[in-house]
Amino acid sequence: MIEQTFAGRSVLLIIGGGIAAYKSLDLIRRLRERGASVRPVMTAAAAEFVTPLSVGALAADKVFSDLFDREDEHDVGHIRLAREADCIAVAPATADLMAKMANGLANDLATAVLLAADAPILVAPAMNPAMWSHPATQRNRETLEMDGVAFVGPNSGEMAEAGEAGAGRMAEPLEIVAALRDLLDSLPMPLAGKRIVVTSGPTHEPIDPVRYIANRSSGKQGHAVAAALARLGAAVHLVSGPVTIGDPADVEVTHVQTAREMRDAVEALLPADAAVFAAAVADWRAQTEAGEKLKKAGGKGPETLPLTENPDILAGVGNRTKGRPALVIGFAAETEKLLEHGGAKLARKGADYIVANDVSPDSGIGGEGVMGGDRNRIVLLSPDGAAEWPEMSKDEVAERLAALVAERLAE
Ligand code: C5P
Repeated sequence: MIEQTFAGRSVLLIIGGGIAAYKSLDLIRRLRERGASVRPVMTAAAAEFVTPLSVGALAADKVFSDLFDREDEHDVGHIRLAREADCIAVAPATADLMAKMANGLANDLATAVLLAADAPILVAPAMNPAMWSHPATQRNRETLEMDGVAFVGPNSGEMAEAGEAGAGRMAEPLEIVAALRDLLDSLPMPLAGKRIVVTSGPTHEPIDPVRYIANRSSGKQGHAVAAALARLGAAVHLVSGPVTIGDPADVEVTHVQTAREMRDAVEALLPADAAVFAAAVADWRAQTEAGEKLKKAGGKGPETLPLTENPDILAGVGNRTKGRPALVIGFAAETEKLLEHGGAKLARKGADYIVANDVSPDSGIGGEGVMGGDRNRIVLLSPDGAAEWPEMSKDEVAERLAALVAERLAE
């Protein structure tokens, strides 16, 4: 069951070297079934208890473990691992890992990520009761708590070592989930009180009762942006064209078919503090919509399909002199001359930002490509210039755009 708190959130799970590491496999599953993505980092000792293969398979992500792995550093890098996480769970946290954290050591990937992180951190200690109650460990716990680190457990009870009992058992996976929920729910809501309109998906422009003009937009990026804005506390209204994906959690949605319906819905939702136009609106529609299905006359269909231009929703809102949202963001899907075409749209449509992406088949994005796929590589254009973002998931693009919206609306 997807949970609002976890949906689309990315949890960086640092697995330390302890027998309780086997419980982290279940933790990954529990987090993912709630809608979170889990990025695992294992210490060298952790790999003695659970295999990176099981961890990676459950997380459906690469397992990161080596600070000096050139491929890992090239792919993501420890700084990005730290920055891209919404929260970090250290489970199990050994006495050694806690000591390193408390003292700011960073001599492996796990500790380097922890030192570079600005996301909230939850520690689930697991160790022998004597090690837990040792003054050194308790000093480290106090230091970490003063640094703002949250703790769950350890619980008391039987230990893995025969005959040992006391406080030191790692909290159960569902207790860790509950503690992470509290942590995520207590994050600041920088967009609380802001109204934001988002468009997403393609439009369908009817030719006759059974045919229409459409495009390959899946709505994944626009929907992800709506969800990310809602997670920062905004009241988000999404106007969606026909898509096969579900409505994002905590977002009000109006479903439309055509560009004109989309424009009417957007206009009716203004005023707003910000508007994000991620929809791939059909620029053209059939001049007339036939009342009956068009037939082949004498074996031949109509030779031409007269088109007429659709209203440009973004340009209409961006160029308003009255009632313009404080922040207007457009998208530009291009197959060539990304910067030139995107830059021209910035001015013509009166947008503060244009999120330009290369949707050509040779964009270098694997799988289904940008249109329909789950990954994106964008260039953010503004009057200040162009910023190239590395390839990342559409959820990550959405998170970053939402953070930008929050920053700009706070100004
Ligand atoms: O001109 P082009 O379609 O490439 O512009 C893309 C940007 O303009 C997107 O942000 C899209 O949502 C918006 N747009 C619009 N109405 C149209 C065409 C595009 O809002 N009719």
